[in-house]
Amino acid sequence: MARRKHKGIVWVTGASSGIGRALALRLARNGWQVAASARSAAALEELAADQEGSIFPYPLDVTDMARTKQVHAEIELAMGSIDMAVLAAGTYKRDGAFDFRAQVAQSMIAVNLQGTCNALEPLLDSMMSRRRGKIAIMASVAGYNGLPGGATYGATKSALNNLCEAMKPEAERRNVSLSVINPGFVDTPLTARNDFPMPFLISADEAAASIEKGLEDGRYEIIFPWKMKLAIKFLHALPAMLRFTITRRLVRAPD
Ligand SMILES: NC(=O)c1ccc[n+]([C@@H]2O[C@H](COP(=O)([O-])OP(=O)(O)OC[C@H]3O[C@@H](n4cnc5c(N)ncnc54)[C@H](OP(=O)(O)O)[C@@H]3O)[C@@H](O)[C@H]2O)c1
Repeated sequence: MARRKHKGIVWVTGASSGIGRALALRLARNGWQVAASARSAAALEELAADQEGSIFPYPLDVTDMARTKQVHAEIELAMGSIDMAVLAAGTYKRDGAFDFRAQVAQSMIAVNLQGTCNALEPLLDSMMSRRRGKIAIMASVAGYNGLPGGATYGATKSALNNLCEAMKPEAERRNVSLSVINPGFVDTPLTARNDFPMPFLISADEAAASIEKGLEDGRYEIIFPWKMKLAIKFLHALPAMLRFTITRRLVRAPD
């Protein structure tokens, strides 16, 4: 019998920068064949050149449902069955009561929530019928509590936690494992625009290491760093009125 020389085939979305890029590199260096997706074809080509023979670019806008399904099929045709997927494509724009715009909300929902669903459908279809596979969905600790400035972003991440939790028991019946990833603040282009202090900030490489370990350990919730985990779970456990006494301090009045 032919022996597989690699750990398996992993599809990473959001692989052109930040956490997704660091994770794609780490997984490739540690024996995975990586299909890397994001909109920036040039950034994906550069990534593939860095790990020639281990990372393969599959440019994609996850908001395009038909194209996402097509890319999934292209990967499986060219590389073989996807063993693991990390759905990390995401975007953040500040919004809240001062500046709420439905169109801004729609743009975040389209990428973070609908974009994840667009990749989930073909992944679940093929993994559930094959009765094998692992899917990790990138959410955020921002999904735990409603925080000023992160109204829609937090809502999308909260929804992803709920979606993943709802599907896990059914997926398990077909030997498909679902995980949710809830990072705290990570130093990436997404957070570089933030003009407020980011407690317990970690690098994208540190985040990728935590994710890889969590996946290897088969954890359902991969949440890090531990100080942020404690802080956010404590806040979540407080009664709403007490939580508001804390979150009121985070309000930043517009100029
Ligand atoms: N940084 C943090 O503190 C933090 C904390 C918790 C969770 N997260 C989550 O982690 C994930 C990665 O974020 P990051 O911090 O690494 O930010 P980032 O560097 O901005 O990376 C975002 C990635 O998503 C891709 N992307 C955005 N829109 C896309 C679309 N329509 N179709 C396909 N790909 C798209 C981007 O590539 P293109 O622009 O090339 O498409 C990029 O590769 C996001 O889901 C984010 O919400 C981040």
